[in-house]
Amino acid sequence: MSRILTGIQATGVPHLGNILGAIEPAIRTTKDPSNEAFLFIANMHSLTAIKDPILVRENTYGVAAAWLAFGLDTDKNTFYRQSDIPEVTELMWYLNCVTPFPMLANAHSFKDKSENLSDVNAGLFTYPVLMAADILLYDAEFVPVGKDQMQHLEMTRDMAGAFHSKYQETFVLPEATFDERVMIVPGTDGRKMSKSYNNYIDIFLPEKQLKKQVMSVVTDSTPMEKPKNPDTCNVFALYQLLADDAKVAKMRKNYLGGNYGYGHAKTALFELILDRFDVQRNEYASFMNDREELDKLLLNGAEKARKVASATLTRVRAALEF
Ligand code: AMP
Ligand code: TRP
Repeated sequence: MSRILTGIQATGVPHLGNILGAIEPAIRTTKDPSNEAFLFIANMHSLTAIKDPILVRENTYGVAAAWLAFGLDTDKNTFYRQSDIPEVTELMWYLNCVTPFPMLANAHSFKDKSENLSDVNAGLFTYPVLMAADILLYDAEFVPVGKDQMQHLEMTRDMAGAFHSKYQETFVLPEATFDERVMIVPGTDGRKMSKSYNNYIDIFLPEKQLKKQVMSVVTDSTPMEKPKNPDTCNVFALYQLLADDAKVAKMRKNYLGGNYGYGHAKTALFELILDRFDVQRNEYASFMNDREELDKLLLNGAEKARKVASATLTRVRAALEF
């Protein structure tokens, strides 16, 4: 059994890029019987950037509801909120004390953030230490990460190594796994879909608002009757990511044949989204209307996570002669 762990930022309701690039692939991985996954919502990390507690709470529920809507099995896996396991902050302190200052000062993501944000708080600086505690607390073997998080994984291994050399072998050394094939989902303006570019499609929106987002996909001004190039069109790019081969071939023909406008293509994309995500849209809405159920699932997950966390902390405290 391999233990896979990943943290999900509570920055907002997952958009189509998060779904195709992260949620669906992760859920496929959890279905492999030889894997056991720990998945948590990193709501404490979110405090480095978001100061509105209601917003962090709502984002946390939104993220949880989205993962559940996409079929995350909470019996097989351990799904929890970071803040429900206070052991993580105790471990963070011990790791802080074996982490050299320059390691944190030179982290790419800290340098980026501290140059661009007005609120450069100590949480931003020690963010990688909390992340290392998230990973080491649960004896994670594999951590799927995007390129931007690779350095944090190296730092996690360095912190574990430093603890081992000062005290004794205590942690499982995690490995980063990085899937080169992961697709980049384009946003409505053709750049990478991202919350910060405000070019995202939120598939969980009510139909009318969702349609508005889909209709806002940027296209060129080729007139309706003229043939169009599918390979340079943002609408086609999104359609291609969601449709089966037969549908894609038909859409390509529509583009090349002329007398098929971008409005038609956008409507087809909108209908495809409704059809493909029908089940998930309903599930998401029902979870969002039942916070008690969400809390129950997350607290059950926390209870499972906490057993592993306290066993690890017992080893850590023993190493420290506490
Ligand atoms: P973020 O919210 O940017 O931290 O992303 C959370 C997860 O979604 C990461 O695994 C990202 O790689 C993935 N992701 C975010 N945006 C996209 C996108 N436009 N296309 C594919 N994957 C994405
Ligand atoms: N820092 C990660 C991100 O921005 C989120 C995260 C927090 C995480 N703790 C983690 C990811 C532990 C993997 C393992 O996406």
